[in-house]
Amino acid sequence: MTIKRSHITGCGAYLPERCVTNSELAAALDTTDEWIQSRTGIRQRHIAADGELTSDLATNAARKALDAAGLTADDIDLVVVATATPDLTFPATATQVQANLGVTRGCAFDVQAVCTGFVYALTIADNFVQLGQSRGALVIGAETFSRILDWNDRGTCVLFGDGAGAVVLQPGEGAGTVEDRGILSTHLHADGRYKDMLYVDGGPSTTQLAGFLRMEGKEVFKHAVVNLAQAVDEALEANGVDGAAVDWLVPHQANRRIIDATARKLGVTSDKVVVTIDRHANTSAASIPLALSEAVGDGRITRGQLVLLEAMGGGFTWGSAMVRW
Ligand code: COA
Repeated sequence: MTIKRSHITGCGAYLPERCVTNSELAAALDTTDEWIQSRTGIRQRHIAADGELTSDLATNAARKALDAAGLTADDIDLVVVATATPDLTFPATATQVQANLGVTRGCAFDVQAVCTGFVYALTIADNFVQLGQSRGALVIGAETFSRILDWNDRGTCVLFGDGAGAVVLQPGEGAGTVEDRGILSTHLHADGRYKDMLYVDGGPSTTQLAGFLRMEGKEVFKHAVVNLAQAVDEALEANGVDGAAVDWLVPHQANRRIIDATARKLGVTSDKVVVTIDRHANTSAASIPLALSEAVGDGRITRGQLVLLEAMGGGFTWGSAMVRW
């Protein structure tokens, strides 16, 4: 029996031009390059220019993903943008991206799962493709977190950056084994009891203002290590493989120490982990597609390899996706 699977047929990324180093932040804030690097692994982050919107970042990444897939706007019937920093409260940033690209068919909507947003969006788009409801899907993670940071709070503002990454999904047939190409599994979780540990203190229904990011960093760290270990175990078990079978771990990039702990738990060595946090900081929903795009672009991830994606974010939300590239 043949089954339908979604294949990632193109990746693209976009980072705003302006790059801000830790030392530049330390000039205005009670922090040091040494503190930020040793606690997080971050050296620098990109920050969107005035007037540069989440949809602009998303559109640039999407264009590159379409080119890589050899498709045009006419081939796309689904646009999903994972973002916690939309252009406007409504309409969805995905509709602006659709308009920018010239996509006029199918549907477009945003997904809000903060740093797990890309894994949520990929899962939803994968289901559309498997059910035959999409023949060409753009899945984008795009953020301008610089707009919701309290630049006086050294415990949070040094951690995040702006950027966007995108992938194209298309249907393909296979026998349905772990050796066949495509998205093999997705697993999503949320537990709203922890919503107050990482949140934004504003929104249309509360303060009518966008608000600023607030976080209990230590608590988030502890939960991330536990939840991500569960997420990677679940993906391995669902596919009947062990950590040794994984060619690449592409984790959400929140903290180098969290990434290393998850890799250790999985049993993969650091040369099999795609790390961008040093240059991008935490770009929330954009971090996984940015990292994927880099590792596909420079030839590290190649056809037939087993790639494991995982993320955890506000809510809490967390999840994984296993892909035979
Ligand atoms: N520069 C210098 N000192 C800083 C600082 C900064 N940018 N930010 C915090 N500090 C200080 C704190 O005030 C504290 O000082 P004190 O001991 O005098 O009170 C000290 O450093 C230790 O702070 P703490 O919060 O305990 O540090 P930590 O080792 O837990 O590291 C994080 C802080 C935020 C880097 C870490 O908790 C983390 O990465 N958490 C998870 C974040 C995350 O993943 N978020 C997104 C999930 S998607």
